[in-house]
Amino acid sequence: MKMIEPNNKRLMAALLPLMLLGALNLTHAWQDAKSGYEFMTPESRAMQDDDFENPGMLTVDEGQTLFITTAKNEMTCGSCHGDDGSKLDIERITQYPVYSETLKKPITLRNQIHICWNERLQNPPMKKYNDPRAIALETFVRHQAHGKPVNVDIDGPLKPYYEAGKAFYNRRAGQLDMACTHCHSYFPGSKLRAQTLSQGHSNGFPTYRLANSKVNGLHERFRQCQHQFRAKALKAGSDDYVNLELYINAIGKGLEIETPAVRY
Ligand code: HEC
Ligand code: HEC
Repeated sequence: MKMIEPNNKRLMAALLPLMLLGALNLTHAWQDAKSGYEFMTPESRAMQDDDFENPGMLTVDEGQTLFITTAKNEMTCGSCHGDDGSKLDIERITQYPVYSETLKKPITLRNQIHICWNERLQNPPMKKYNDPRAIALETFVRHQAHGKPVNVDIDGPLKPYYEAGKAFYNRRAGQLDMACTHCHSYFPGSKLRAQTLSQGHSNGFPTYRLANSKVNGLHERFRQCQHQFRAKALKAGSDDYVNLELYINAIGKGLEIETPAVRY
């Protein structure tokens, strides 16, 4: 374990009680999944609920524009899915990550968007999983499923990937020797500096974060949390993060999709 730098002292002071309790190896502490929405202030909830106030709606609009932008092959996303997305399979959207028979592994909603972008529009591939265009398209697409319950299915071929995600979630890592579970299953409702810890669900993603004033994808949020407990952040789109996404969708199964949610 490396020396804690002095400028981390305040963070350490905030985390110490959590770490000590974490060391007791408490079991998973909550029974009912609660959306991050329930841990936000009334002001932030009101902001999320009002389409004109919710800053994430601008990203939905950007996604809508990209959705009907003509590619070199003269097609748009809308050619197959309806210009307003009305021909998208909403039920299917709630089930991602799903198992791809072609790739023989789980794919996220974002992966599906990249696949359609590359193969169906024959656009030059986006270099990054987290390309802002992919985030905007995902925000638009998932917003179509607003209010529908998260409905991932882990009983079939996805089971081992779910198990891998679960192991990752519970594995201690980094300079502070913490795991995701320490903050998000033992301490929802507690304050960590100015923020109230939630159960760390995915139903609001992509979410507008007040902290960085932009819409963030789920894997970006994973990276931000890993930085927070001084663990090495992985690449967005990596297999470990896809497995983690699967696990988090599974523990939040049934929560209503809130995309774009407003979070701290
Ligand atoms: C040529 C037709 C075509 C185009 C163009 C196309 N898609 Fe698809 N898309 C499909 C098909 C077919 C599926 C069903 C899954 C599969 O077979 O891969 C699908 C699946 C999806 C899904 C999963 C939900 C569903 O309805 O199954 C999303 C989201 C999606 N596409 C987004 C996009 C986006 C965003 C674009 C533009 C970048 C796009 N698609 C362009 C044909 C298309
Ligand atoms: C040191 C405590 C801590 C640890 C450990 C931690 N997080 Fe977080 N996480 C936070 C805080 C603080 C927030 C912002 C408030 C909230 O929603 O809990 C957050 C938010 C989130 C959110 C967004 C929830 C929402 O409703 O938008 C997700 C998802 C998440 N974390 C996943 C993870 C994952 C996965 C790990 C492990 C890789 C992890 N976190 C580890 C502190 C932590």
